Amino acid sequence: MNTKKQVINGDIEILIVEDSPTQALQLQHILEQEGFQTLVAKNGMQALAILVEHKPTIIISDVMMPEMDGYLFCQQVKSTESMKHIPVILLTALSSSQDIIKGLECGADNFIVKPYNEKELLTRINFILLNKELRHTELAQFGVEVFFKGQKYLINSERQQILSMLLSSYETAVEKNNELSKAQEELKIMNEQLEQKVKQRTMALEAEIFERIRMEAEKERMQAELLQAQKLESIGQLAGGIAHDFNNLLVIIQGYSELLKSKMDKSTTWYYYMEQIHDASLRATNLVRQLLLFSRKHMMQYEALDLKKTIEDILKLLKRIIGEDIDVITGVENNLWQIKADKGNIEQVIMNLAVNARDAMSNGGTLTIRAENVTLDAAACKCVPESRPGEFACLSIEDTGSGMDTNTLQHIFEPFFTTKDTAKGTGLGLSVVYGIVKQHEGWINVKSEPGKGSTFHIFLPRLVDKDKREELILVSQPLHDLHGNGERILLVEDESEVRSFTSEALNDNGYVVFEAANAGEARDVFEKENMNFHLILADSVLPGTRGLQLVEQLLALKSDLRIIITSGYLEEASEWSALQERGFRFLQKPYSITDLFSKVKDTLLHK
Ligand SMILES: Nc1ncnc2c1ncn2[C@@H]1O[C@H](COP(=O)(O)OP(=O)(O)OP(=O)(O)O)[C@@H](O)[C@H]1O
Ligand SMILES: [Mg+2]
Repeated sequence: MNTKKQVINGDIEILIVEDSPTQALQLQHILEQEGFQTLVAKNGMQALAILVEHKPTIIISDVMMPEMDGYLFCQQVKSTESMKHIPVILLTALSSSQDIIKGLECGADNFIVKPYNEKELLTRINFILLNKELRHTELAQFGVEVFFKGQKYLINSERQQILSMLLSSYETAVEKNNELSKAQEELKIMNEQLEQKVKQRTMALEAEIFERIRMEAEKERMQAELLQAQKLESIGQLAGGIAHDFNNLLVIIQGYSELLKSKMDKSTTWYYYMEQIHDASLRATNLVRQLLLFSRKHMMQYEALDLKKTIEDILKLLKRIIGEDIDVITGVENNLWQIKADKGNIEQVIMNLAVNARDAMSNGGTLTIRAENVTLDAAACKCVPESRPGEFACLSIEDTGSGMDTNTLQHIFEPFFTTKDTAKGTGLGLSVVYGIVKQHEGWINVKSEPGKGSTFHIFLPRLVDKDKREELILVSQPLHDLHGNGERILLVEDESEVRSFTSEALNDNGYVVFEAANAGEARDVFEKENMNFHLILADSVLPGTRGLQLVEQLLALKSDLRIIITSGYLEEASEWSALQERGFRFLQKPYSITDLFSKVKDTLLHK
C-alpha cells in the first residue's frame, strides 16, 4: 500500500453502494490502495441507513440495484438537507442522453461508465475533491423542466452539478471516442494483418498451384522424352540390323567395282559406268556408316581427348563450310576436363550441328561454340531424362537462326527426319549426333523456339584415371607401300561373296590367301599348312565358334600371329573391350580395298 497517499487521503471516506459483492470488493480494493477509507452498502436502503450515522466525503453508487435503484437513492440523498452536500458519483453501464437527464434530475454529481478504467475513476474522484469547496460557495439553485422522448423531467440542481454532469458525459464521450478509435485502430491493424495473411496464403496457394501445374507439365514432358528415347532405341536396333546386312552387300559391290576399275582403261565408257557404280556404293556405304553411328553399332577408337584442341583443329574447315555471312564465336573454358572420346566422331558431331546451324541462318547470324566443365548433382538431373550426376565437359552449339517448333523438336533425332529439300538434307545429321553422343555415354539437351535460334548442349563424361590406364587406341601411322610380299593370310569369312572378293583382292596385291568359311575349316587349314601363317583375318560373327574364340585357339598354338577382326558391327560391347584388351586390329565393314590393304599392311608391320 502507498503510505504517502494514505496520509493525504486517509481522512477521506467513500461510501460504496453496490449490490454485486465482487464489484464492490474490486472498487474497495482500488480505493483503499489509494489510501481512501471505504464503507460498503448493498443497496440504497442500506446506504441511507449508514448515512444517518456516517457522513462520507463521496458516495459512489451503482444505478441498477434491487429495492432502491441508484437514481432514487441519489434523489433521497440530494433532498435530505444533512446529506445533499455529499457528492454522488453514479456508476452505470448505460450512458444514453436519457441516463444523463435522469442523473441530472436526481441530482447526481458525476457519471462513471462501466466498465470503468481505474485511472479514470480516480481522476474523477480527485476532480470532485478539488471542487468540493467551490461547490459549497455556489449555492444558487434553479429548476428547469426538460421533455425528452415524451417524458418530463424536473431538474432542480446547482450549476456546478450540471457542469460536472455535462463534463462527465463529455469525458465519457471522449473516452468512448478514444476507445472507439483505439478499437478502430486495432481493427485496422487486424484487418491489415488479415489481409497480409490472406495475401501470403494466396501467394502460397498460387505457388502451390503453379508448382503442381509445372510438375504435371514436367511429368508429361519427361514421359514424352522417355517415349522418344524408347522410340529412337527401337529405330536404332532396326537400322543396325539393316545396316549389317547391307554391309556385306556393299563390300561386294564396292570391292568388285573398285577391283574392276583398277583393271580398266580410264578412257573407256565402261570405266565411266564402273565409276558411277563405285561412287554410288561409296555413298551407300556412307549412309550405312551413319545408320550404324546412330544405332551405336559403330566401333569407336577412344582416346583421351582435349575438346579445346578438337574445336581449334576443326574451326578452319568449319568456317569454310559455314560461309562468310555467319560469325563464328568460340569460348572454351581454361582447364577444360579431358574426355574419353573418338576424335573423328566428336568432329563429326560438331560438323553436323554447325551445318544445321548454317542451314537455319540463311540470312546470316552468329554461331557460338562453347565448352565448359559442368558438375551435376542429383537435383539438377531430376528434370532431364537421360542425364545423371557427375562431372562432364559440356559442348554447346548455339545459333541465332530460325529455331524449331515443338513438333519438329520431337522428331529431330529420328533417322531420315528432315524439313529440308531432298537435295539438301537426308535427315541423318542429328541421328548420327545422337548415336555418337549416346555411345560416349553422354546426352543431348536442346533448347529452341521458333524465331529464337537453337542451342544444343552435349554432355560428355569427364575422363577418369581408370580410362587413362586403359590403353586408348592410337590412330595408325600412314602407310607408304600397301603391296604384300607373299605373306600368308588365313581368311575366315562365312559370307562367300565377301570371302571371294577379299581373297581375290589380297591375292592380287601380293599376299597368299587361304580361305575358310567357319572355325572348323579354319582350324583344319591351319593344321594342314603347319601353322605357317603370318596373319589371321577373321569375321567376328561366324557360325558356331565366334571369331574371337577361334583366334584365341590359334594364338595358343602360334603366339606371334597377327590378328585382324572384321565386322559390320560387334554384337556386344564386351566383345569390343576384349578386342581392345588383346590389342587386335579391327576392320570395319564395309571396307574399301584401300582400307583392307592399309589394315593388313599396318598389322603386319606393327604388332
Ligand atoms: N540448328 C537448327 N535450327 C533449326 N532447325 C534445325 C536445327 N538443327 C536441326 N534442325 C531441324 O532438324 C531436322 C533434322 O536435322 P538433321 O541434321 O537430322 O537432318 P537434316 O539437316 O535435315 O539433313 P542432313 O543432316 O542429313 O543433311 C532439320 O531438317 C531441321 O528441321
Ligand atoms: Mg543436318
